[in-house]
Amino acid sequence: MKENISRRNFIRNTGLIAAGGMIVPSLLNSCAKKGSPNDKINVAMIGVGGRGSNHVVYMLKLAQKAQIVAVCDPFEARRNDTAQKINEFYAKQKGLASYNGCLAYNNFHEVLARKDVDAVVIATPDHWHVAVAMAAAQAGKHIYLEKPLALTIPDGQKLRKLVQQKGIAFQYGTQQRSDSKFRLAAELTRNEVFGKLERIDVWCDGGKGNFAPIATEPVPTGFDYELWQGPAMERPYCNARVSNLGAWHIYDYAIGFVAGWGAHPIDIAQWGNNSDDTSPFEYEGTGSFFEVGNLYNTMNSWDFQMKYANGVQMHFFSEDICSPVIEKYRNYSGHGTTFFGTNGWVSVDRKEIQASNPEILKHTFSPGETRLMASESHLGNLIDAIKNNTPTVSPIESAVRSDTISHLCDILVRSGEKSLKWDPVTETLVNDSEKLQSLITRSSRSPYGDILKS
Ligand SMILES: NC(=O)c1ccc[n+]([C@@H]2O[C@H](COP(=O)([O-])OP(=O)(O)OC[C@H]3O[C@@H](n4cnc5c(N)ncnc54)[C@H](O)[C@@H]3O)[C@@H](O)[C@H]2O)c1
Repeated sequence: MKENISRRNFIRNTGLIAAGGMIVPSLLNSCAKKGSPNDKINVAMIGVGGRGSNHVVYMLKLAQKAQIVAVCDPFEARRNDTAQKINEFYAKQKGLASYNGCLAYNNFHEVLARKDVDAVVIATPDHWHVAVAMAAAQAGKHIYLEKPLALTIPDGQKLRKLVQQKGIAFQYGTQQRSDSKFRLAAELTRNEVFGKLERIDVWCDGGKGNFAPIATEPVPTGFDYELWQGPAMERPYCNARVSNLGAWHIYDYAIGFVAGWGAHPIDIAQWGNNSDDTSPFEYEGTGSFFEVGNLYNTMNSWDFQMKYANGVQMHFFSEDICSPVIEKYRNYSGHGTTFFGTNGWVSVDRKEIQASNPEILKHTFSPGETRLMASESHLGNLIDAIKNNTPTVSPIESAVRSDTISHLCDILVRSGEKSLKWDPVTETLVNDSEKLQSLITRSSRSPYGDILKS
């Protein structure tokens, strides 16, 4: 794929249009950055906890191309401290005694109302992801959205439709696509350098955190807990609930690491298998949850087998049970993706890329072979996509299809069924099991979740 292809052509050429999804041509590219190519992209950081703070650091490294003009978080101290650090950075960079161009907000709607904001980086807990992203898309802002995509499959599909309609740039926060090791693994696989792909192993951490009691504590001053809960069900406050562990492992806000961590190695499996426009159609497996009575209540251990329509099989399992399988063929790592071809295997994690035969990794690609988009900075790739009207390395279409896999695994275990079938063309469940069907959607609290009903 050439890098200078426009987002509209990219969507057309790759067939990455949702089942039933509509492109409205007059709106496409309407949000491309206007003015001089030297103009900086104005960015707002929405959610500046652990991950959002990392993004601030990365974004400041892109100061030649982008400028942070707003931060937003219901924690007053968090947003004010972050805005202050950003202003200090820019003051130093601009050689000024002080600078206060980055403003702090509680409510993201005020940020989205600003005409000068071009793009948002959303690193809220998962239960807010799609609602904030849809509001941002409606306001014409370009989007970086943290993984996992959505709290339900239909929510992700709705966001995809809106992003396509608006023609905005969208980067899914699965940053492994901006690491050359992962790209090499996917390219070697796609070009059948070690034979035709037959199966994939995918594994990751099942869950973090010890027992946390379900407690009721006073809401600290300077924290808008009502806004933090947003579309999720109203619950009594306790500190553990609004910590990142709570955001990752409480079912009100997330489905746990089956999506939260699984999003990363699954995304690479999808990339290597050339399946960004589909998902496996058959799922079997088991899973278990944090102990009863624990505030953390998502799945934390699992073992799934899946089949793709192209005949490839995928084994997705959590770290606690994968080691005997993984250790048999490679140096162990707590997460990774292994592609098995007819003539060998290639395996990749954040530390290294390994192969059944080291010669595989020395492959020289010829001009006719498939190359994937080269990106060394996931945020930088989004900024470039906005400035140049080019595609991103992790588009919304890939996000929906990989997030679907995590959700179907979670739904299967929660339903008590032994297997399920998914139609990857219509993107609907084939099984008519009432239990399975009932788990596909969730209710969301008004008014915060109203946008999800549109
Ligand atoms: N890509 C990665 O490697 C990676 C790593 C860690 C976390 N994450 C993802 O980042 C997201 C945040 O995780 P975290 O660990 O930073 O959690 P966190 O709890 O530390 O941070 C989330 C922040 O979002 C804020 N927030 C909540 N509602 C908001 C709203 N309506 N508007 C603005 N801000 C709001 C919270 O107050 C909090 O400060 C999660 O979706 C998580 O899965 C991704």
